[in-house]
Amino acid sequence: MRILRIVLIGAFLSTYAWRSRARSLTTVIDAQAQQSLNFMLANISRPDAAVGSVVAAPSKMNPNYYYNWVRDAALTMRVIERLYARSDAQHARWGRMLRNYVQFSRQNQLTPNLSGAPDGNGLGEPKFNADGSTFTGAWGRPQNDGPALRAITLTAFARDLLHEGQVSYVRQALYDGQLPSHSVIKLDLEYVAHHWSSACFDLWEEIRGHHFFTLMVSRRALIEGAALAQALGDPGAAKYYQQQADAITFYLQKFWSPSRGFLVETIEHPSGRSGLDSAVLLGVLHGDAGDGYIAPTSDWVMATAKKLMDTFQALYLVNKKTVGLAPAIGRYPEDRYNGIGVSQGNPWFLTTLAFAEYCYRVRTTYAHERTIDVTKLNAPFLQKALAVSGIASARLRFGIVPHGSHLYGAIQAGLANLGDRFFETILRYRGTGGSLSEEFNRNTGVLEGAPNLTWSHAAFITATWARD
Ligand code: NOJ
Ligand code: NOJ
Repeated sequence: MRILRIVLIGAFLSTYAWRSRARSLTTVIDAQAQQSLNFMLANISRPDAAVGSVVAAPSKMNPNYYYNWVRDAALTMRVIERLYARSDAQHARWGRMLRNYVQFSRQNQLTPNLSGAPDGNGLGEPKFNADGSTFTGAWGRPQNDGPALRAITLTAFARDLLHEGQVSYVRQALYDGQLPSHSVIKLDLEYVAHHWSSACFDLWEEIRGHHFFTLMVSRRALIEGAALAQALGDPGAAKYYQQQADAITFYLQKFWSPSRGFLVETIEHPSGRSGLDSAVLLGVLHGDAGDGYIAPTSDWVMATAKKLMDTFQALYLVNKKTVGLAPAIGRYPEDRYNGIGVSQGNPWFLTTLAFAEYCYRVRTTYAHERTIDVTKLNAPFLQKALAVSGIASARLRFGIVPHGSHLYGAIQAGLANLGDRFFETILRYRGTGGSLSEEFNRNTGVLEGAPNLTWSHAAFITATWARD
């Protein structure tokens, strides 16, 4: 009892301290989010690129990222879609950008490409030249997360448009309910529904196999697509998409490795790779279908997040130099890509930001669920969150932590604090004027790889929104 009282007084004092630290952090984060939005917008429909295209970064050499990657574009336009959904003063502008993206996506779908073989269906092509023409170089193809992510973004847009009564545009350009289809979402859903079980390249464009990230976003695309199909009077398709989503749900169980104690990213991961990968966390953030399946609060996910944090904490020199911050996070520990060529892997902005976003999303999900079930698998992560708030001595016991209890409050505060520590890590390494590249050096912290990677800025914005 006495120990508990001391713990709670400690918690009270540190709550006071973190509140003021969080307030001043908010000002800095909000300013960076505005800068990130500007950098992001500059990469959409650039003057020398096709209207509706999104280049991965402005850099044309060392590295050349001047391409429309289907994945990066979809994640970027998802941010624009969320702005559109807010119905702010620039609603019409966001709507125009999204319609241009729809048109450019349609052109991508119709452009013959090297992913076309052997079945003549090329929707897994990972990237196009900025003018929309086919990229003919050797590449890891197909990458089937692209059409799934594009369907997620455009399904959200379609829902908003239907609310606004813009039915004819939705039926013509987005979901026509025909086979063969001439509309972007329907084509993407047909592709995902028929191809999710085939091996493809992962989001890091390196290994062929079955990937957690790709399957999580495929599942979400099909679930949300089924609802859209139903709403638009295409019940046969709705049923088929839902069946395929259910099959993915079942398949995803395979990714939990009881012996390793984490979710692996790729079933067929090559020797020399542990399977531990921040793509798992990205899969949870972008593939969360809101139905509680492998949600942010899943103890599989929490165990994986903790393993990733510990691994990168020990791996990068930048993490050993900083006390009190959360670790900078890379793609996977064995990574050797340095942003241009192959030497040594580095922490990335978008993966570190994914950890920030993750902490807030866990917090919000708990707030909806109203209880926290402390288990053997999630306790280490939750204990870490408490430690960040300076209440490490609050020992977690397995079992239910009821809503409204002191411990519940302490865990929620700890999650917010941990998210803030990840933000502080990002802010420490960002470039002047709020620029964010792909990576920062694991030893020195200097920016590495493509400057102003569009996805880095998109990730900053969504993490900020999760914090709000
Ligand atoms: C470029 C890819 O985009 C990147 O993800 C990969 O790590 C490198 N090539 C090295 O294969
Ligand atoms: C390399 C990353 O591995 C890949 O995920 C991304 O699509 C490209 N860079 C372009 O940003």
